[in-house]
Amino acid sequence: MSKLHTQHLLLLLFLRLLIKKITTATEVKALVKWKTSLTSSESLSSWSLSNATNLCHWTGVICDATGSVAKIILPNSTLTSTLNELDFASFANLIQLKIHLNLLVEMLPSNTSTLSKLTHLDLSGNNFTQPFPSSIGRLSELQDLQLYNNSLSGLLNLQKACRFDFGSNYLESPESTASANMPVVIFLALNLNKMTSEFPPFILNCSTLTHLDLSQNQLNGPIPALLATKLN
Ligand SMILES: *[C@@H]1O[C@H](CO)[C@@H](O)[C@H](O)[C@H]1NC(C)=O
Ligand SMILES: *[C@@H]1O[C@H](CO)[C@@H](O)[C@H](O)[C@H]1NC(C)=O
Ligand SMILES: *[C@@H]1O[C@H](CO)[C@@H](O)[C@H](O)[C@H]1NC(C)=O
Ligand SMILES: *[C@@H]1O[C@H](CO)[C@@H](O)[C@H](O)[C@H]1NC(C)=O
Ligand SMILES: *[C@@H]1O[C@H](CO)[C@@H](O)[C@H](O)[C@H]1NC(C)=O
Ligand SMILES: *[C@@H]1O[C@H](CO)[C@@H](O)[C@H](O)[C@H]1NC(C)=O
Repeated sequence: MSKLHTQHLLLLLFLRLLIKKITTATEVKALVKWKTSLTSSESLSSWSLSNATNLCHWTGVICDATGSVAKIILPNSTLTSTLNELDFASFANLIQLKIHLNLLVEMLPSNTSTLSKLTHLDLSGNNFTQPFPSSIGRLSELQDLQLYNNSLSGLLNLQKACRFDFGSNYLESPESTASANMPVVIFLALNLNKMTSEFPPFILNCSTLTHLDLSQNQLNGPIPALLATKLN
């Protein structure tokens, strides 16, 4: 191997290590900043700047092979406050965010869309109230969106979510809730909402639908015959 070649390899290795270090430091800072904003965070005692070297073993944090945060899984952890201080732009490798059954309110920060690899988002059983930022539609890898039992009423525009649970919220008009373009929805729950119109026509556009729950609304009018050919 030539001397020049070896130098190139060493430089590449050095750059990789540097990037990994910067990524980790950014993730650590972002998580600690969010923790500090929570009014209740007893469950997150391992999350601290002085414990940065243990990031991949912090409560609820799962890393990928490069040591970058891949999953944040904190169900039923009495997290209280908002997500406003969680800077999603710091988590380029996040694939799952599951923070269901907590006491979080308001809504996702608008830069959620920077989570370009996110496949699973579970916010169910909190009290999110504000309309979803339209940037959620730019989560091009999102497969599973769980929003069950919040106080949501907003508009959703999803490219690709296969499982989509919007049960037990305050949806009134399904037409304005989901975009006409939900091509690959397989599981769709809109039960326990406040829908009073006719059967939401956009559902017939979900070409891959196999599970549909519209129970406990006040829908009226006929169920389109076409639906029977879909749900089988
Ligand atoms: C650092 O994190 C590890 C892994 O979660 C934990 O066992 C340890 O108690 C933490 N240390 C401090 C000082 O919080
Ligand atoms: C949530 O946590 C509490 C206390 O740890 C526990 O008693 C309860 O069963 C948990 N609820 C669920 C739905 O897991
Ligand atoms: C993302 O949003 C958070 C919280 O609103 C904010 O602190 C942060 O600066 C934003 N980051 C970018 C890159 O826009
Ligand atoms: C959810 O938030 C709304 C608006 O702030 C409030 O009226 C409602 O009582 C809250 N619900 C729960 C279950 O905390
Ligand atoms: C929804 O959340 C509220 C407030 O946490 C809780 O009291 C209620 O039992 C939940 N409802 C369902 C259907 O899960
Ligand atoms: C169904 O899809 C077609 C073609 O994309 C579109 O023109 C129509 O508006 C959609 N219908 C509903 C009810 O969303």
